[in-house]
Amino acid sequence: MTRAGAEVESDENGLHRRAGRDLCGIGGVPVDSLREVLEMAAALASARHDTLTEVLRGRTVLCFFGEPSTRTRLSFEVAARRLGAEVMGFGNDQTTSAAKGETPLDAARNLDAMGVDAFVVRDRHEGWSQVLCHYLRARVINAGDGCGEHPTQALADALTILEAFGRRPEMGANALAGLRVALCGDIRRGRVAHSNLLLLPRLGAEVVVAGPTGMIDAAALPEGVALAGSLEEALAGSQVVMMLRIQRERASGGLEASDDAYHAGWGLSAARLAAADPRAIVMHPGPLNRGVEIADEVADGPRSRILRQVTLGVAVRMVVLARACGRMDALREVL
Ligand code: NCD
Repeated sequence: MTRAGAEVESDENGLHRRAGRDLCGIGGVPVDSLREVLEMAAALASARHDTLTEVLRGRTVLCFFGEPSTRTRLSFEVAARRLGAEVMGFGNDQTTSAAKGETPLDAARNLDAMGVDAFVVRDRHEGWSQVLCHYLRARVINAGDGCGEHPTQALADALTILEAFGRRPEMGANALAGLRVALCGDIRRGRVAHSNLLLLPRLGAEVVVAGPTGMIDAAALPEGVALAGSLEEALAGSQVVMMLRIQRERASGGLEASDDAYHAGWGLSAARLAAADPRAIVMHPGPLNRGVEIADEVADGPRSRILRQVTLGVAVRMVVLARACGRMDALREVL
C-alpha cells in the first residue's frame, strides 16, 4: 500500500511541491472539484452506506490542533473513522514536546515521519497549512488558520444551502444562482466568512456582508460582494442569513461594545429576521454566543439549520479526507 504523499516530488532544498489533494484554501480549488466534493458529500448525507470502512482502511489521519476546537476536530475524527482510517490527535500543548521547547514544525515533521497520510491542521497563524505543505509528505487539510480560512466549514455551509433550497451540486457555478446570502458579524477576522466569501459567489450566490465598521475591511471584500449599512439592509430579500461570532481572541482593540450593545445593534432576533425572505434559513458555524450575535429564539427556531451544518460537515469531511488520501475512486465505488 502506498502512502498518500509517496508521489510528492522534492526540490533541491528538500521542500515538497505538489498540487491537487491538499486543501489549504477554497480559492484555489477548481469549480469542477468543488462540484464533485459537494455531489459526493450530498450522496453520503442522504443514504446509508455499509461498506464505507474500506475507503480509508490502512490510512492514518492526524488531527494536529494548536487552537481550541469542538465541532471541527471531532467532526474530522468521526469522518475519518467512518471511512475506516486510524485517527491520531496532537494538541501541541503542555502534555507534548511543546513543553520541552520543540517547535510545532519540528513536531509535525516527526509525526510525518511516522507515516501519516493526512494532516488536519488548526493553528492561530495564518498560512500555517501552506507552510506544512512544503515540509510534509502527508497531505494537508486546513481546519482553520488564524484569521485566514476554514475551507471545510464553507463547504459544509454550501451543502446546507444547496439542500435547504433543493439545489443540485451538479449545477456547479450556477448551483446557488438566484439566492442572496447575508454574512453578518465579524467578517474581518472570521476565517469562516473568508472561505464563504470565496466559495459562495463561485457557486452563483449573491453575497452581502454586514457588521460594525471595525469588523469589516471593505477594501478586502472580493469583487461583487456588497456591503450593507445595517443588519436590516443585509437581511432584506436574503434567503440565507449566516451569523458569525465576534472573534474576541483575535481582537486588538475595536471591540469595546458590550455584549448587550452588540446584540442591540447587530444581533439576530426574531423581529429582525422578519425582514428576510419568508423562506430564509438561519446558519451559524458555531460556537454560538447566545444573546450576542444571535438570540435563542432564532438559534433554536424553525428556520435554524445550525445543527444540519454540523451533520453535513461530517459528510463533507469524509470526502475531503478521501480526496487527500487519493481514495476518491474507492469512495465513488461504494456510493
Ligand atoms: C469557527 C472557527 O473555529 O473558525 N468554528 C468552527 O470551526 N465551526 C468559527 C468561530 O470560532 O467563530
